[in-house]
Amino acid sequence: RNHRREMECRSDIDRLNAPFLEIFESLVPAEEEKAKQKQLLASLEKLVNKEWPGAQLYLYGSCANSFGVSKSDIDVCLAIEDTDISKSELLLKLAEILESDNLQNVQALTRARVPIVKLMDPATGISCDICVNNVLAVVNTKLLRDYAQIDGRLRQLAFIVKHWAKSRGVNETYRGTLSSYAYVLMCIHFLQQRKPAILPCLQEMKATYTVTVDDIQCAYFDKVENLCDFGARNKESIAQLVWAFFDYWAHRHDYANAVISVRTGSIISKRAKEWTRRIGNDRHLICIEDPFEISHDLGRVVDKFTIKTLREEFERAANIMQYDPNPCVTLFEPY
Ligand code: GTP
Ligand code: MG
Repeated sequence: RNHRREMECRSDIDRLNAPFLEIFESLVPAEEEKAKQKQLLASLEKLVNKEWPGAQLYLYGSCANSFGVSKSDIDVCLAIEDTDISKSELLLKLAEILESDNLQNVQALTRARVPIVKLMDPATGISCDICVNNVLAVVNTKLLRDYAQIDGRLRQLAFIVKHWAKSRGVNETYRGTLSSYAYVLMCIHFLQQRKPAILPCLQEMKATYTVTVDDIQCAYFDKVENLCDFGARNKESIAQLVWAFFDYWAHRHDYANAVISVRTGSIISKRAKEWTRRIGNDRHLICIEDPFEISHDLGRVVDKFTIKTLREEFERAANIMQYDPNPCVTLFEPY
């Protein structure tokens, strides 16, 4: 059956490369925007250092992992040691400092899953979320950025998948669909599994980068400049990969038993992770293992209703890639 599907790949698929690349290019942020983000970070750090001299600010999330589209909000992590005040008090204090410096819409969300302060910088128009000591997110940001440097097709694929997910309303964790972070992991996993592989598994290679964060050892090969030929034996084009990605999630993934794992570069079984039944609110209907917090399933937000929506969207996308005369438009039609 798999073989037949492979044969069914539309014969004019490569006609779609140029339009997909055009969409990708149109989403990439301009250098000028990156410069503004750095500027804002520097001025925020200066401000924070008046109160906490040892504190540092790090960019994480899509503005730092190279999967950010233009005009995204930026994610900032405040790294601060040895404060005797609680995280909530710290965030409230931070909000106070930012507000008195004319930053706008300052809001401390102390009871969110990841507590943050939100703000908008009127000078640049950039919105920003600041969290505290979320070092694991800074480390997984580096992992994603390092993967992106190995083969340009990852960034192209992930931009297109994220753009599709946002257009179709399936990139909203608070409504039971998947985060951008989860979609990027799905893309990395997918490219690790291509034959020949387009991406290696960095965590299975000799570690050249090691940090321990919250008792979790994060270690992997990060000398990615030595791997820039890794995917060269695989000649698949972006259009073929977009088609195969949606085909995988529509028709090939074993939702009942499989967990995708970027950490091991392969599929592992739900049984091995004891993710076979619902525990609390974690239903494990689509399983995406976090590369470092391995007990963490990024699919945990998906429930019995939204899994249906997701799978229908994957099927719709796969069908469009297969049969639609104009997939580069239809794929991204608003829902
Ligand atoms: P967009 O903002 O949609 O462009 O993408 P993003 O990559 O910034 O995603 P998002 O704002 O959802 O998350 C920001 C960052 O937080 C991610 O890049 C991760 O580093 C981290 N993150 C998000 N969700 C999780 C999670 O469930 N677990 C962990 N460990 N980190 C997460
Ligand atoms: Mg973000």
